[in-house]
Formats: sequence, C-alpha cells, structure tokens
Amino acid sequence: MRLAIVSDIHANLEALRATLESVSADGVDRLLCLGDIVGYHADPEECVALLRRCDPICVAGNHDRAVAGRITTEGFSADAARGVAWTRKRLSAGAVRFLAEMPLQACVEGAVVAVHGALLPEGGCEMTRLDTCERRLRAFEALAAHPSGARVCAFGHTHRLGVYELRNGVFRSRAEDEVALRDDALYLINPGTVGQPRTEERRATYVVLDTARCTAAVKRVEYDVSPALEKARKAGLLPPRSSPIRAVTGRALRRLGLYGPVKRFVRSVRRGTA
Ligand SMILES: [Fe+2]
Repeated sequence: MRLAIVSDIHANLEALRATLESVSADGVDRLLCLGDIVGYHADPEECVALLRRCDPICVAGNHDRAVAGRITTEGFSADAARGVAWTRKRLSAGAVRFLAEMPLQACVEGAVVAVHGALLPEGGCEMTRLDTCERRLRAFEALAAHPSGARVCAFGHTHRLGVYELRNGVFRSRAEDEVALRDDALYLINPGTVGQPRTEERRATYVVLDTARCTAAVKRVEYDVSPALEKARKAGLLPPRSSPIRAVTGRALRRLGLYGPVKRFVRSVRRGTA
C-alpha cells in the first residue's frame, strides 16, 4: 500500500490544491490526514469539501476539535483562538459534523498508527507536541505497546517535518528524503505542514509511505502563497501586510537560517520568558 500522509492544512486552499495534485501524480492508494484541516487561513469550508472528495482517513487536530466545540481554546495562542472563532461562524453544519466525528486515533491496515499530536501511554493525542527527545522516546514506548503491532506512528501538530527511528535502543533522526524502513526498528513520522509553515521550509510538505517497499519518501510542493495570505489578511486572521523593512529583514534572516531562532527569541521576550 502507498499512503500519502498530510497534516496541518489550516484552511490554506492553494496549498491543499497543489499538494493534492502532487499526491495524485504519486499514484497513491489512500490519503491519510493527521488533522488541523481548519484554523489560521480563510478557506475552511472549501478545504473540508476538497479533502472529503478524496475519501481520506482522518484524525482530529486540536483546531478541528475546537471549531467543532469538542474542546475549548484554552491554551491556544491569540491568533489561533481568533481563527477558531472566525471559522466556527462560517462553516456549514455538515462540515462541523465531519470535524466533530473525526477520531483522535486511527490505525491503517495494522501498519500505521495515526494521531495529530502524540501517541502517549496517558493519551492527550491532539494537544501534545512531540518536540523533545524525551517525549519522542515515550511515544516510541507507546508505539511498541500498541495492540495493532504497527511499527510506524504518523503524527503532526508541530508543523515540522521529521522521520525518527528507534533501533536496538538507539534513537536517531533520519534526514534523507527517502528513508528505507527497517523491520527491526520503530518509526515516528511527521509529514510537516501543508498550509502553515513555521520553519525556513516555505513549501507544502507531505510523506508517501510505501508499506510494500518499506520506504518513507518526503515530498515538497511549491505553490503561490500570496492569495492565501491576502484572503487571511482581509478576513482579519493575519495582521496587515508587513512593512518593506520587515519583509527585507525577514528574507535576509531566512537566507542566513536565523529566521526561526530570532522569531522564537522575540516571542519569548514578548512573553517575558527570555
Ligand atoms: Fe496545526
């Protein structure tokens, strides 16, 4: 089986269209969506409808659950909470029902366990970020104990692409674009984000998992991000266009690979935690 794994679309229709075109060219058997279909961008109804036409296997993300009223926005950033409130007012009842009915966890043919945030012994699948080695090791423990016997867990939520391997008690991150999956190892696979990049990688990313060839291939898709940003600004979901000086500074920092660290530092100063 060839499985296209996508995550964190966040109502970015242009990114989703480009990604699905690429997925279609890959000739996969099934689409697996790891949640956060909505939130942040301005085309939630269109994204839900387009995705549903692909008959995907879906698990719920925290934004999907908040929009569907299954959780509150406590713990969400101000931007995220604003996006949830905006989306809730605009989605059709059918789309809300679809989001509300998505499970927190799915198992695909006994080969892949899918969650939005993390597979952990204590649960909390959709809100926990697997962004530290300690949490990833606990997720490996939960995967090893999973009743399905699956050796792969697919997760999203961090918006960071990554393939992590645990073999003979040794943990490592695999940086290749096509990873050969060993049958004596366990894997955590994060396909990154379709619609809301938070790293220097601005393209949409996803992963094609081939369970017969035992490979996980990273895919990157170029698309024009301007229409989605413009619609989000018009809807009040993003601040107005940044000044030319900020734009030039941002481009220069990205080129130097410093955009992420500087952004995190500025955020921590604003929060008073630097
Ligand atoms: Fe997300």
